[in-house]
Amino acid sequence: MADIAIIGAGYVGLTTGACFAHLGHDVTVADVVPEKIERLNRGEIPILEAGLDELVAEGLEAGNLRFVLGAANACRTAEFHYLCVPTPQGSDGSADLSYLVAAAAEIKDILPANSVVVNKSTVPVGTTTVVEDVIRREDVKVVSNPEFLREGTAVSDFLHPDRVVVGAEDQEAAIRVAGLYARVASPVMVTDPVSAELIKYASNAFLAVKLTFVNEIATLCERVGADIDDVTLGMGYDTRIGRSFLRPGPGWGGSCFPKDTAALVRIAADAGCAFDFIEQAITLNTAHFQRTADKVESAVQGGVAGKTVAAWGLTFKAGTDDLRESPAIEVLARLGAMGADIVAYDPAVHGQLASLPGVRVVEDPYSAVDQADVLVVLTEWSEFKGLNFDKVGELMRSRTIVDARNLLDRSALKRRGFTHIGMGR
Ligand code: UDX
Repeated sequence: MADIAIIGAGYVGLTTGACFAHLGHDVTVADVVPEKIERLNRGEIPILEAGLDELVAEGLEAGNLRFVLGAANACRTAEFHYLCVPTPQGSDGSADLSYLVAAAAEIKDILPANSVVVNKSTVPVGTTTVVEDVIRREDVKVVSNPEFLREGTAVSDFLHPDRVVVGAEDQEAAIRVAGLYARVASPVMVTDPVSAELIKYASNAFLAVKLTFVNEIATLCERVGADIDDVTLGMGYDTRIGRSFLRPGPGWGGSCFPKDTAALVRIAADAGCAFDFIEQAITLNTAHFQRTADKVESAVQGGVAGKTVAAWGLTFKAGTDDLRESPAIEVLARLGAMGADIVAYDPAVHGQLASLPGVRVVEDPYSAVDQADVLVVLTEWSEFKGLNFDKVGELMRSRTIVDARNLLDRSALKRRGFTHIGMGR
């Protein structure tokens, strides 16, 4: 097994470190926030990721996982050095590599001979060379090993990936990194760094475009009287389309898709390619937020101005506590601007949101619907399906639900006197 240093204890670094430890490696995770390091060494996990707390506890107990302050304290004895620092979206759409470059500069002189530096964060095409230029050591190789972790299922996605991608000019370094995944029963492909970096962006952008396609088809279904559930079921039988990622919603969001689609458009533009089709998908996705808000506006007699709108769901998707680029927040911001008085509940969100100043966040779904003129479901938390809708109906001023995730049982709700307005049906 190998000595691995992880630089950055965020969603990607924490999951990568805990999973590598679970696979038997000796892992030291570094971060720059002292309180975060103290909490992590006590087994306290700052993010909601299924199974992550168990793996961290397992690694701490076994002694092959530890958290330290500062990258230097992790890299001195490690053979592999995973860069898992943020690569946020710059104002011009390009990825901001300042954290990555700073991390590489911080460790370049203390890396043991024959080390391998690995880019795990999502980075633009050509970044492997950028890191090589910072480190500038013949005895240190730089490899791309992009992450394909979905928030909420990151542990499962790491241990049971569809594929592992390794990109390196130096084949020996690539094989060494591929060897870290020896106990992962998934295909491991080795390619050049540029191809590895592009696989990540191309995959995420394809998924985002697929979702935009589904949301546009859902809108068309409403206009022509088709049922999106049957349309996507029929589509999914074609193995070239596949069943997954065909659920309509309020639009796509999160900390990756918006950033990665904008970055790919910029990467293409810098290479002289006009990726208008991805720009259009981004534009249509933003328009879909407004379309979802308009659906709520139309569902309320006289519109939402001055009315009470209950919202179930604030996070960008179920299974996570992440509010970054959340479609739910985009829709509620628009409803607030239309004059709605909004009360929101999300099982993973506690306390008021600075991003939604006019919205009252409550601690249970029934308080949210009390005296509401309409309920809008924006995040597909499964707990919403099991609630007592007789009680919901008694509490609401009007039994009207806009189900932006097609999550709830339409016929059961109709039997209870609800008007259920879905997406594409
Ligand atoms: C994504 C990629 O899936 C992952 O491979 C990559 O490593 C990081 O970015 P994530 O951002 O966690 O993962 O979210 P994902 O599960 O992909 O969902 C993205 C958005 O699409 C969410 O807003 C989600 O609600 C929406 N979505 C997803 C739909 O609207 N319908 C679907 O069928 C699936």
